[in-house]
Amino acid sequence: MLFLALETSCDETAAAVFSDEPRAFSNVVASQDELHARFRGVVPEIAARAHLRNLLPVIDQALRQANVTLNDIGCIAVHNTPGLVGALLVGVSAAKMLSVALGVPFIAVNHIASHIYACRLAAGRDIFPCVGFVVSGGHTALFHCQDALTMRLLGGTRDDAAGEAFDKVAAILGLGFPGGPAVEREATSGNPKAFEFPRAFMNDDRLEFSFSGLKTAVLYTVHGQDLSKAKGPPADSELADLAASFQLAVVDVLVAKCKQAMRQTGLKRVAVGGGVIANGVLRKALEEMAAREGAELFIPPMSLCTDNAAMAALAVEKWRRGEFAPLDLDAEPNFL
Ligand code: KG4
Ligand code: ZN
Repeated sequence: MLFLALETSCDETAAAVFSDEPRAFSNVVASQDELHARFRGVVPEIAARAHLRNLLPVIDQALRQANVTLNDIGCIAVHNTPGLVGALLVGVSAAKMLSVALGVPFIAVNHIASHIYACRLAAGRDIFPCVGFVVSGGHTALFHCQDALTMRLLGGTRDDAAGEAFDKVAAILGLGFPGGPAVEREATSGNPKAFEFPRAFMNDDRLEFSFSGLKTAVLYTVHGQDLSKAKGPPADSELADLAASFQLAVVDVLVAKCKQAMRQTGLKRVAVGGGVIANGVLRKALEEMAAREGAELFIPPMSLCTDNAAMAALAVEKWRRGEFAPLDLDAEPNFL
């Protein structure tokens, strides 16, 4: 049984072919980073229009790479929530069209649950129950995942997501977009202890995150508190230390809250997803923490961490339960 999955929730246009094992045969992603870079963030209208242009070629490529045709596809899968509504609608409409044209069912899955399921896909074995940890540009949240489709939110961010904080701090430091990789690169030659940046909720039982205070602390350190007298980007000599100190503040909080979630739930498995896990300092810190806690840590390869359509293999679990989507399914921008 083969599935064709579509992902258009934000600024990546993606399609994948996978089987009900689940096993992925192709995972094609067309990035729009170049289109949004000069705005230093994703522009929803531009994203939706680019999806319209890119989706059919991306689907073609996914089918070709998997060495199949549309006639081999038995089910369509699509992320219909959460995300930018105009962007989501492109994928949802295409999924409905393909479902009708091919005479096959279609299944809607939650993009956040899929980020966690990417770990199951990569592991090739069951990973549930586990703590699910999504750290992306749009979300920073911890879940108690009973199984692939039953997840309870343990806590999320009150303001910025971790990736968003990286992107905004990169802008403050005069680095490129997306900010995460640029900050990490700059940080390699910096001293992470040079600046004492705040770590919100560190000594608090609540599994919540807040990164806007940290972002403001970086802003004031660079420009002073009177922004009307703001200076230009920091001197090169300071840049690396600022990037490294900011990065460590984010990593410290993410790792501490992940550990707290494991202790509170008693779960000894953690499945991590989202683009921020590309960060080497975060990966290493999570690995060390998991080893200390005697826990199993699942981090998929990068192609399955950032937005992609193969992670929608979560649809296989719904297919087993016969949970198909109706043709009047909506795109749902809000979370869960
Ligand atoms: O999951 P993703 O591809 O898209 C969604 O937001 O759904 O994540 C993108 C985010 C961006 O905010 C980007 O700056 C961040 O992941 N990111 C990183 C790194 N690579 C990407 N953050 C920190 N360090 C990185 N190396
Ligand atoms: Zn995502």
